[in-house]
Amino acid sequence: MRDFIPVCEPLLEGNELKYVTDAVTTGWISSSGKYVTEFENAFAAYCGAKYAVAVCNGTVALHLMLVAAGIGNGDEIIIPSFTMAASAFAVCYTGAKPVFVDADKDTWNIDVSKIEEKITGKTKAIMPVHIFGNPCNLKEIRRIAQKHDLLILDDSAEAHGAEYEGVKTGLLADITSFSFFANKNLTTGEGGMVVTDRKDYYDRLRYFKNVCFPLDSPRVYEHADIGFNYRMSNIHAAIGLAQVERADDYRDMRIRNNKLYKKYLSNTSGIIFQKDEPNSLNVNWMNAVLIDPNKFGSSKEGIIAHLKSNGIETRLLFTGMHKQESLNKYGCDCSGSYPVCENLTANGFYLPSGSNLCEDEIRFICEKLIEAGARHL
Ligand SMILES: Cc1ncc(COP(=O)(O)O)c(C=O)c1O
Repeated sequence: MRDFIPVCEPLLEGNELKYVTDAVTTGWISSSGKYVTEFENAFAAYCGAKYAVAVCNGTVALHLMLVAAGIGNGDEIIIPSFTMAASAFAVCYTGAKPVFVDADKDTWNIDVSKIEEKITGKTKAIMPVHIFGNPCNLKEIRRIAQKHDLLILDDSAEAHGAEYEGVKTGLLADITSFSFFANKNLTTGEGGMVVTDRKDYYDRLRYFKNVCFPLDSPRVYEHADIGFNYRMSNIHAAIGLAQVERADDYRDMRIRNNKLYKKYLSNTSGIIFQKDEPNSLNVNWMNAVLIDPNKFGSSKEGIIAHLKSNGIETRLLFTGMHKQESLNKYGCDCSGSYPVCENLTANGFYLPSGSNLCEDEIRFICEKLIEAGARHL
């Protein structure tokens, strides 16, 4: 048993070092090397999609996705309030406004029953975020999008390999972005990807990602639009290719972790897990738990302190977008009530969730968690 169990750490057990060494020894360290294309092709194939474009992190993947979809000044994009700030910030980078919807009390994803009341004449798209790897109710989101002629721009930063009705993220929406930050189920350290089946989006993704160099003659220094340098390096892509080769293993390890947590905590009153969306495969990026302090016998703070004193790291959950001073200052409507999101922020936290956890460690974490409740009874 380790003295310290981190909340997450990357697993780099396959060809990562071999491919990185190759990239370094051959001198292909910029975005021009072969691993970028190989990683893009492998990830597109993994999702079952036609096109994938690698970028340098998940936040710019979101921005590039929005740009490719033509989102800009004056538009409104519906997003969940319970998400990572990057979902909202990327919308702001385009000049558009994020509009918030509370979380569903069971799945913790966007509450689809509250989307329509937020749609206005300016709404251009819905951005589902598959919270902690749990696919959103795409059936209902598609029905609403079709009815109001909206795009679906998917933030799959946390949901590599997740499935809804047997279809993987990457193919569930018009266009999808991913993050490969070090704590994700698949990682490149820092990195991101945008995936789509649409050739027009694919061309815009490649164009805006590379400072708007002309696509057909990239060495001509003539730029018809203002673009970005969002390129991924060959070194990062080398790690990514090796990760995709093990994608199903890494995904299954996360799912196994979740099953073990549920096994050891199932009889513990006051500990609530995220409910899987029906007809879906939740890839359990993070094992978050929500505490009902009255039933459990200790507050979130009490548990976190007890776990910490036993060498177990935890992490707080997101603060809602409607609570962010930055977004209020930007002009977002932060009024209204978001009780589910606020309960998650107040009473939820992540347990260690790395792919490499072993059953003994998960049992130990659960024992210490239960002990925290008993101590305060
Ligand atoms: C839902 C969501 N969107 C976007 C991002 C941004 O990804 P990155 O950290 O790679 O920029 C994250 C990161 O954790 C995320 O959780």
